[in-house]
Amino acid sequence: MRAGIVLIPGDGIGPEIVKEAEKVLAHVAAKYGHTFDFTEIAMGGCSIDRFGTSLTDENLETARNSDAVLLGAVGSTPDRKPEWYTIDPKKRPEAGLLKIRKELGLFANLRPACLYPELAAACPLKKSTVDAGFDMIIVRELTGGLYFGDRWTKDVDGVETAVDTLKYTEPEIRRICVKAFETAMKRRKNVISVDKANVLDTSRLWRKTVEEVAKDYPEVKLTHMLVDNAAMQLVWDPAQFDVVVTENMFGDILSDEASMITGSIGMLPSASLNETKFGLYEPSHGSAPDIAGKNIANPLATILSAAMLLRYSLDLDKEADAVENAVRGVLADGIRTVDIYTEGMRKVSTTEMGQEIIDRI
Ligand code: IPM
Ligand code: MG
Repeated sequence: MRAGIVLIPGDGIGPEIVKEAEKVLAHVAAKYGHTFDFTEIAMGGCSIDRFGTSLTDENLETARNSDAVLLGAVGSTPDRKPEWYTIDPKKRPEAGLLKIRKELGLFANLRPACLYPELAAACPLKKSTVDAGFDMIIVRELTGGLYFGDRWTKDVDGVETAVDTLKYTEPEIRRICVKAFETAMKRRKNVISVDKANVLDTSRLWRKTVEEVAKDYPEVKLTHMLVDNAAMQLVWDPAQFDVVVTENMFGDILSDEASMITGSIGMLPSASLNETKFGLYEPSHGSAPDIAGKNIANPLATILSAAMLLRYSLDLDKEADAVENAVRGVLADGIRTVDIYTEGMRKVSTTEMGQEIIDRI
């Protein structure tokens, strides 16, 4: 097949890890007889440096016209890059990410979190929990809620006041719940819907809507869980989770928590999808500016994101399996970047890790 893939290296370690994933995709194309046309665009701080804004409309259109987008990471920290964080919030690095999500309608963010047995030593949970293992996928609503509601900061009767608005409509909730149930049908048929229905109106609408959607999936077990309890259950008994569906902000927080218990955030891919096959794929971790340019970052989350791209946007399941099996092979063979290194293993650089993956496909 022929496919157009847009690459967004971004900031920090982004360019290094995207380069390795690109090499893996190029290798897959050569091996399985496909043609992938790669186009690179700027987003994030690097785009601010060049164009004064984190995502230009022209680059957004380039992304829109592709079959799929692979992103590294955007942003830095205000102390490291004050020039990216003292400008209008609408132009800052993270704004480019929110713009591409919203403009391309990427409402469904799938964030799998599983414990690789080889990395179990890095899991901070107690041994019996680690032994039970876990394999969940967080289905996070990505284009609504607090992230996109009206916001302002102003002086109200002499008091500095800020407001962020949390809004959800029934169709927005319905489509993400459908995505969650469809995902569950291909897994262990268990959906846990996370909300704060004891306090929030949006959560009460969420709960009502998810129950309606559930009627179309009688084989799937639905449980409601309050978000504070979910945060606790994730570290107490992660094995109970199969598919977690939740709103934007809760999903942001819970997915970081879920990544931590896998032992390394450097292993977790993610997919952001719209109603079509199109998707944006990115590691769940950030730009890690402290280790950028040192050739030590773990490219596996980005390589696994490329595998999700092959599977969800291009329907290339066999190729996606090959990439995921190569990652398992590397772990089984004791090859580790520094973030997942333990004694007795072989420590490799970013580029060496990329090559080890290619050698196994
Ligand atoms: C994520 C990130 C983003 C988010 C930031 C960078 C805006 O934390 O993808 O989880 O909050 O969605
Ligand atoms: Mg986050």
